[in-house]
Amino acid sequence: MPKTQPLLSLNLRARENNVGRKRWLYDEIRLAIVERRFAPGMRLPSTRSVSEQFRLARGTVVGAFDQLVTEGYLESKVGLGTFVSRTIVESRDPLNRARSVRHKLIPAAISKRGQNYLNNPFPQLWTDRSATMFRLDLPALDAFPVKLWNRVAGRRLRNAAPKLLKQDDALGFRPLREAIAHDVAASRGIKCSADEVVITTGTQQSLNVIAHLVLDEGDKVWVEDPGYAAAACLFRAVGARVIGVPVDAEGIDWEAGVRSCPQAKLAYATPGCQFPLGITMSLRRRAAFLHWAQTSGSWIFEDDYDSQLQFSGRPLAALKSMDDGSNVIYSNSFNKVLFSSLRLGFLILPSVLIEPVAAARAVTDRFPSVLNQAVLCDFVTGGHLAQHTRRMRELYAERHAAFVHFVGKELDGLLTLSTSRPGLHAVGWLAPGIDELAASREAARDGIDSLPLSSLRIDHDNKHALVFGIAAAEPRLIRQGIRRLKQSLLRARSISRRAR
Ligand SMILES: Cc1ncc(COP(=O)(O)O)c(C=O)c1O
Repeated sequence: MPKTQPLLSLNLRARENNVGRKRWLYDEIRLAIVERRFAPGMRLPSTRSVSEQFRLARGTVVGAFDQLVTEGYLESKVGLGTFVSRTIVESRDPLNRARSVRHKLIPAAISKRGQNYLNNPFPQLWTDRSATMFRLDLPALDAFPVKLWNRVAGRRLRNAAPKLLKQDDALGFRPLREAIAHDVAASRGIKCSADEVVITTGTQQSLNVIAHLVLDEGDKVWVEDPGYAAAACLFRAVGARVIGVPVDAEGIDWEAGVRSCPQAKLAYATPGCQFPLGITMSLRRRAAFLHWAQTSGSWIFEDDYDSQLQFSGRPLAALKSMDDGSNVIYSNSFNKVLFSSLRLGFLILPSVLIEPVAAARAVTDRFPSVLNQAVLCDFVTGGHLAQHTRRMRELYAERHAAFVHFVGKELDGLLTLSTSRPGLHAVGWLAPGIDELAASREAARDGIDSLPLSSLRIDHDNKHALVFGIAAAEPRLIRQGIRRLKQSLLRARSISRRAR
């Protein structure tokens, strides 16, 4: 032990009433050491004199000293006394460390993949989302049967068997998977067993697990253009090359895809209701698209996000129902049909992907909350999902009709709605001379949410248009919203003219 300097008395702050004596003494000495008020190697007064100085029981002082010795702040030398440790100060005091270390400091870095996520953010919408009218991301939350959901949830929680509290299968809560397999046979024409169904937190997580399992760095992925930007962002983030494939009146133009990039490993498509243009892929196109995938060894990711909610005619069966089971990965979500914060959805997998998905999930997120899955399962098997979906279809048809009516009445010469299949959102083509960014910005100033179509484009140019959400718009507010939109578009037209 090098030369030491004895302390005659300790200069410590007074104890607060709510702090125990031993805790106070320990904290004060430790802090003095870390802040270098007690220098390394310094000898502390004996436990007897500390107990006298601060009127503490000797055992309290011995206890605090022992703890500091155990943790390495103090060193005890038989026959010599107790000293401030030399090593602890060097390794724990950041000021001291910075002074003593002469090395070049190298900041820890994120991975290339991490950087990819940063470089491919989900589009920052021009609006700040405080705009509440025509929100694109919300279903009719005002019409969700909260009381019924609470009743179903309450019953499930009251009767929760202990096995519900245990970990479950990485592929999801088995009874829910069975209920889904049963439901998609009737509603989407998909014949599958519960073994092929995997519960996820929704489309985004489904895309994520599939992208990690089937794509390597540099693999090419077709995405409808314009298309679901969150899918394109994710594919880029995992290192894939995203190729925009145009959409025509029959859906994704896969032949154009072959011309620009024949070797796509995966194609992302929304055959039931193309997002955002609202086109239903024709039967002829489905057969040809599937044939392309089967003969080129490619995957199709079928995002069937709003099939349950289609209110104009009977929806075509899913593309997956035409597959012999090996190329189409089917995805659907409850977040749109029920409520956005539910975060539950599912995949129906080709058999070759079941084991890889189970292996990947076991070491990543495992599975969504089993209690939520069980509540959803009761909601489905109790017939409430079917009933709610029927109600929502009627409600959305009403909201859509009101939207079309008032746009026709108020926005003539400014905005023309697309004639494709009516759905939960609408694409409005702007009159020549109105810039979509200016229009979206002005609309946001009037409390109206909209997405410029360019934010959903990948490679191909489109005419200027705005995408609006209709599902969450209460009918009594639609007329008022459209009138406000008229003012926004008139301002946008003047701004666009001045900018030219
Ligand atoms: C094209 C498309 N797919 C999927 C979803 C649903 O995604 P998630 O289940 O992750 O909420 C949406 C939601 O807006 C969507 O627009």
